Amino acid sequence: MQVSFVAAIDRNRLMGSEAGHLPWRLPRDIAHFRAVTAGQWLLLGRRTYEEMDGWFTDQTPLVLSRDPDYRPQRPSHRVFAGVNAALDFARASGADEVVAVGGARIFSAALEAATRLILTRIEAVYEVADGVYFPDFEKSGEWRLVHAEHWPSDSKNPVAMRLEYYERRQGIPPPGRPVP
Ligand SMILES: NC(=O)c1ccc[n+]([C@@H]2O[C@H](COP(=O)([O-])OP(=O)(O)OC[C@H]3O[C@@H](n4cnc5c(N)ncnc54)[C@H](OP(=O)(O)O)[C@@H]3O)[C@@H](O)[C@H]2O)c1
Repeated sequence: MQVSFVAAIDRNRLMGSEAGHLPWRLPRDIAHFRAVTAGQWLLLGRRTYEEMDGWFTDQTPLVLSRDPDYRPQRPSHRVFAGVNAALDFARASGADEVVAVGGARIFSAALEAATRLILTRIEAVYEVADGVYFPDFEKSGEWRLVHAEHWPSDSKNPVAMRLEYYERRQGIPPPGRPVP
């Protein structure tokens, strides 16, 4: 099963705030987010889920919360106590892809399970006192950039963006291992 991450991050990997809102308003990225998540199984944290109240139409949200009494907005929305339980449920239900949409805590908790990253790199730096950040995925060397496109700024989008797709590298042997 494909586990895709979809996130928008600034040059410092900032993606939001503890207070709970996006530091930017970029309609180009919102349209992209809608397209990538349409009809999908979504994995998301309780805080992001509440922030997206009323947004869900044909998606199936799998909400992560450690509160056993947490009740979702609709009975068809499911709540899980951990990443693996949510992914196992989607797999057993026949999903061929789950799209993780954040927030920062969910991206950190689910990074090991991710197979694909779809990142909107916002070509700017935002000042937020209580920022939350996308994990530093590049330091592991496990991710390979497979597609990139530049979105210039325009009248509705005040900053340029770069859409990037990464896939997890497969089958690379550890360096220095002798060939049998
Ligand atoms: N730029 C982007 O692409 C993007 C995308 C999404 C969100 N955001 C922003 O990110 C911010 C929210 O991110 P966040 O990190 O503060 O919150 P979050 O990840 O959306 O939600 C955190 C909550 O999820 C639950 N949780 C987290 N890890 C868990 C785990 N391993 N197992 C079970 N439950 C777990 C906990 O809920 P309980 O407290 O109920 O236990 C926790 O309080 C907001 O500013 C939002 O706007 C940005």
